[in-house]
This record gives sequence, C-alpha cells and structure tokens, in this order.
Amino acid sequence: MNINRNAPCWCGSNKKYKHCHLEFDKKLFSYAQRGAIIPPRSIIKNEEQIQRIKESSKINTAVLDLVSKNIKVGMSTDEINTIVHEFTVSQGAIPAPLNFQGYPKSVCTSINDEVCHGIPSPEVILEEGDIINVDVSTIYNGYFSDASRMFKIGEVHPDLDKLVDVAKECLEKGLEAAKPWGFMGDIAEAVQKHAESNGYSVVREFGGHGVGLQFHEEPFVSHVGKKGTGMLLVPGMIFTIEPMINMGKPDIFIDSEDDWTVLTEDGYPSAQWEYTVLVTETGIEILTY
Ligand code: MF3
Ligand code: CO
Repeated sequence: MNINRNAPCWCGSNKKYKHCHLEFDKKLFSYAQRGAIIPPRSIIKNEEQIQRIKESSKINTAVLDLVSKNIKVGMSTDEINTIVHEFTVSQGAIPAPLNFQGYPKSVCTSINDEVCHGIPSPEVILEEGDIINVDVSTIYNGYFSDASRMFKIGEVHPDLDKLVDVAKECLEKGLEAAKPWGFMGDIAEAVQKHAESNGYSVVREFGGHGVGLQFHEEPFVSHVGKKGTGMLLVPGMIFTIEPMINMGKPDIFIDSEDDWTVLTEDGYPSAQWEYTVLVTETGIEILTY
C-alpha cells in the first residue's frame, strides 16, 4: 500500500494523498482482502473530471429533450439523426456514435424488435403504434456522456405500452440498488427480478459500461446477475445502466446486412432506457437521462 501520505494523490486532484484518496484506498484494500473485485484506478474520476462529464451530460440531455419535442409519426429516423447531429454540433460538441468503430450515423434509433444500435435511415418512417429507442451519446471537450429514451408513436398497443413502462421501471430498480460500497450484481439482480416478474426477459450480451473519459470503459454493467457479486461500486465511478428488456426470449442476433442492428431472435419487441450515473459518497447522482 502506498504510504507516501504527502505525495500528490494518484487521482490527479493535485491534493496530497492523505487529504484525498488515502482513506478510500484503505477501505478498498480491506474489501480486496475479503475477495471483492475492486475497480481499477483508471476509472475513478476526480472532481475536475466529474465537472467536465457533467457538462457533456447537460448537452446530451438537451439533445434528448429536443428529440422528445420533435419526434412524431411520419418522420424518418434519418430526420432524428439530423436533429441530433445539428444540435450537438451547434453546442460545440461531437456526437459520439459518428465514426465510432465505423458506425455511420450520429445516433442509434431502434424500433420495435430492434434491441439497440439501429442505424437511422431516410427509408425508415415512424408509424402509428411503433415504439422506438433513441440512444444519444455526446463528446464535449473530450468527455463522454450517454443516455437513451423510449418513445411511443401515437397510440401503441397496450402490450407495447406496458413493455416500455416496465423497461423504465427496470432502470429505476437498478438505480435504487446502486450505492457506494455495494456491488454491480445488486443492480443486475434488481433489474432482472423486475423484468422476469413481469414475464419479460433481459438481454445478456449487451449491457451498461463505464463512461466519461472514453465512450466505453470498464466495467461491463450486466443486467442479469446476483446481488453481492461483481465489481465493487465506489465513489467516483461513472457508468451507464441501460437494460434491454425483451417481451419474448432474451436471444438476439446482429443484422448481417449492416453489421450493427441488434434484433430479437423471436421477433418480439424490445425496450431500453439508459442513464449515466455517478457513484457518490452517499448514493448515486444521475448525470444524464
Ligand atoms: N450508445 C450506445 C451505448 O449505450 C453505444 C452505441 S455505439 C454505436 O453504449 F456505434 F452504435 F453508436
Ligand atoms: Co451506453
């Protein structure tokens, strides 16, 4: 254990170690001794980084608010892309999806049986009764934020209406379960229980992720699992919770034509909500929603 108490803290705060993460490290070490999976230092954010990620988050939320205001029946998903792209750029920010691992657009739009990573297109028109996830991610001054919302287009079938609402509740259950010195598995179990008690299933292959300094950081945030397992949650961690809830079976496949769009294997619909959260000393703070 580093006992150079007067050296600058490893977190980059410019404070002395003894006034910054010394007590934190002691606590972390005691958990590690008891066998906990502890987070790497690289994903523990300092105050400055948190402020920057909050600035990015603010823009990300404004983008989603703008989409909420404008989304309507008859609109193409490419028009959603245009709204997202133009507003983001007008704020001096960059849409994180654009060119990410070759992704061709500035937002993901996933309709009905599309689970996630749907690519906006002028040919895809929103129809009455559709449900759609719009997933927005922003880079501002090099800092990342990420959130998605579901939208119901006009009158939707009661079964879809319920799916969208329960998916949101699943996220909320995950948020309630997330606390400092708890575990990733606490979130997973809360989400999974709520989904399954409603007769739904949870996608396993995709989950949430650390975010902030990069688009996707450690840890992987599973939405299936057991409480008390997985990585320890500690103050300064920032990650998304973004359960994908399927009406039918959990199985998915990736569209071989575009190599991006994730769909349900059985063709039943899927819904997803995503927030970025910060773990604080006392609880969690939702950064973008
Ligand atoms: N926003 C997605 C997430 O929640 C990631 C999309 S990657 C992209 O992690 F390239 F498809 F945009
Ligand atoms: Co995400």
